[in-house]
Amino acid sequence: MAAGNSFFGFVRGFEFRDSESIMEIIKCSLSEYYTKSLILDLYKTWPEAFIVYDNYDSVIGFIIGAKYSGTEGRILLFAVKKQFRRSGVGQNLLSRELRVMSGAGLSTVRLEVRTDNESGIKFYKNNGFSIISTLKNYYSDLSDAYLMWKII
Ligand code: ACO
Repeated sequence: MAAGNSFFGFVRGFEFRDSESIMEIIKCSLSEYYTKSLILDLYKTWPEAFIVYDNYDSVIGFIIGAKYSGTEGRILLFAVKKQFRRSGVGQNLLSRELRVMSGAGLSTVRLEVRTDNESGIKFYKNNGFSIISTLKNYYSDLSDAYLMWKII
């Protein structure tokens, strides 16, 4: 599916009214706990890199990026509601995020993903990311992460 808008929704910037939807997606899709104030702090740090997918009814996915260095971006949080997965929503969100990052002068991007997150790893490999290393005991439950990286 092409990046940008699609037949059942569109990507747009995060707005404060989206906060509750984002917290709900986080609760259902991610295993770490994040507070609303952390999410709003991330938004304030780089508003253009906080992107949501709106299906004209509600927010069904989001991605938050950050600057890791002067040349490298980082995907911090990324999830799509379970019932809307495998429909290109994640692809649309990531494509927009990478355009924001490259437009800001960044040339590479990194992220961490649980080593047992098969669908996430497949998604990122499909998008040109490579596993660079394993980060032992990276998460609060002491499970490991892969560090993945891509030139943009
Ligand atoms: N199995 C195999 N390949 C997959 C899978 C899967 N479960 N999911 C995505 N892919 C690959 C496929 O090649 C797919 O294309 P296709 O459906 O035409 O074959 C391609 O990725 C694009 O998939 P999308 O439909 O655009 O992805 P989706 O909307 O499902 O979102 C996401 C992907 C965000 C990883 C979703 O699975 C999700 O929310 N997972 C739970 C949360 C999560 O793991 N987030 C990432 C954590 S790491 C971090 O945040 C830095």
